[in-house]
Amino acid sequence: MQFTAKVTDILKQRSACAILPVDNKNRLSDSGSALDKANGGLLSKILKRGDLGSAAGSTLMVPTIEGGAERALLVRTSKTPISQAEFRKVANSSATAVTSLKDASSYLVEVPVTDADATWQAAQTALAAGLASYKFTRCHSDAKPNALAKFTVHAADKKQLKGVQKGVELGGGQALGSNVARELGNLPGNICTPSYLVGEAKALAKKHAKLSTSVLDNKKMESLGMGSFMSVAKGSDEPAAMIAMNYKGGKAGQKPIVLVGKGITFDTGGISLKPGAAMDEMKFDMCGAASVFGVMNALVEMNAPVNVVGVVAAAENMPSGRASKPGDIVTSMSGKTIEILNTDAEGRLVLCDALTWAGKFKPSVVIDVATLTGACVIALGHHATGLYANQDKLANDLIAAGETSGDRAWRMPLWDEYQPMLNSNFADMQNIGGREAGSVTAACFLARFAEDYNWAHLDIAGSAWKSGAAKGATGRPVPLLLQYILNKK
Ligand code: BES
Ligand code: MN
Ligand code: ZN
Repeated sequence: MQFTAKVTDILKQRSACAILPVDNKNRLSDSGSALDKANGGLLSKILKRGDLGSAAGSTLMVPTIEGGAERALLVRTSKTPISQAEFRKVANSSATAVTSLKDASSYLVEVPVTDADATWQAAQTALAAGLASYKFTRCHSDAKPNALAKFTVHAADKKQLKGVQKGVELGGGQALGSNVARELGNLPGNICTPSYLVGEAKALAKKHAKLSTSVLDNKKMESLGMGSFMSVAKGSDEPAAMIAMNYKGGKAGQKPIVLVGKGITFDTGGISLKPGAAMDEMKFDMCGAASVFGVMNALVEMNAPVNVVGVVAAAENMPSGRASKPGDIVTSMSGKTIEILNTDAEGRLVLCDALTWAGKFKPSVVIDVATLTGACVIALGHHATGLYANQDKLANDLIAAGETSGDRAWRMPLWDEYQPMLNSNFADMQNIGGREAGSVTAACFLARFAEDYNWAHLDIAGSAWKSGAAKGATGRPVPLLLQYILNKK
């Protein structure tokens, strides 16, 4: 999708559709009023008839004769200024309504929004359009992608244009990154294997001079002492991989932000086999890794002036004659020993070695992203990502980035009081903490491997994908991560 920010004259700006806000009193914004006038009051007459629903986000497509657009999409708001949440709703529903058209121009920046500027509105508008245009077609024999390929965000004047431009760049990048993550997440486990992810990382490096990719194979990981990671990898016939995508867009001496993604390309549970119901959804157990790919793709596309390393811990969790058994004890790269009481708690086993390895990049911060626990879904449902951090500033910055982008996280406790739940009689720790506070004890486990740097952990088990009729990866938390990274530059 191609995004443009532009000062447009609605009577001249050519497009298949102009997206026009209408308030609770049927009032059009400036551009909408101009188009209405040029069409002899067509829009205001239709609005008077009551054809546009009264609920915020309701839409009505109206063919137009005069002006540059072939159609107008009327979209309802409530009394202005509207809330940020309502603006998102309006941006999403109007974007969804134009996906079958080849292009659209949006005038939503003309809606007054509480505590938001044109830059924010432009970013959210572009993000919504980019997300709406995505469709998974790769494995269908006859599906066509959505038509929407060009999207213009209108700015009122030259003065506003700079801000709108900035917003469109950010929102466009967030959408691109999210859609990369969604595509990888949606791919089935027989296509998206650890080796497939290696191929994607190498292809990205080939295309962009500022990004380089390095890969550790099983042999190398064994020699580095990643006994915890390898205890998961060894149950599968698919070779595992530790991938690093190193993007150097910032100053040479600037310490990088390191992102670490859980990349379990399929999680059967291993010998602690999962029940069959909905097990297909465990193809999404690499959505943390997918979000790292999404962010790296967006950064190179945006030519962002930052240093970021994307680490992906890729493996398949399978039961086999070579798989780990409950009670097995392994030694992690850090030297700490782990009693594996449940082979289905594999995410922390691959991540702990990835976190130790991440230290070699001398990071300013490390943020891991993982579909780590079903318990996080029980605690927070599907709206919030679970956030843990060993530093308050990092936690607050990530929460703020989530609020701004609409990709929200909620902080959970990482208190020492929880740590004894991981005590083992036979090793330094065990890999599960019991039934209670399952998301917290998983984070506590990871914290033991992240003591040397500022670290945050995002448990995206509830936010990374949707089940049911709209089953599919969401691309979260790519918008949050990009907002955080680009806020810092
Ligand atoms: N990938 C799962 C977590 C998961 C489960 C995410 C369901 C989303 C939906 C993870 O590897 C796992 O199986 N975790 C176990 C941990 C338990 C054995 C301590 C879980 O949550 O049940
Ligand atoms: Mn598991
Ligand atoms: Zn898992």
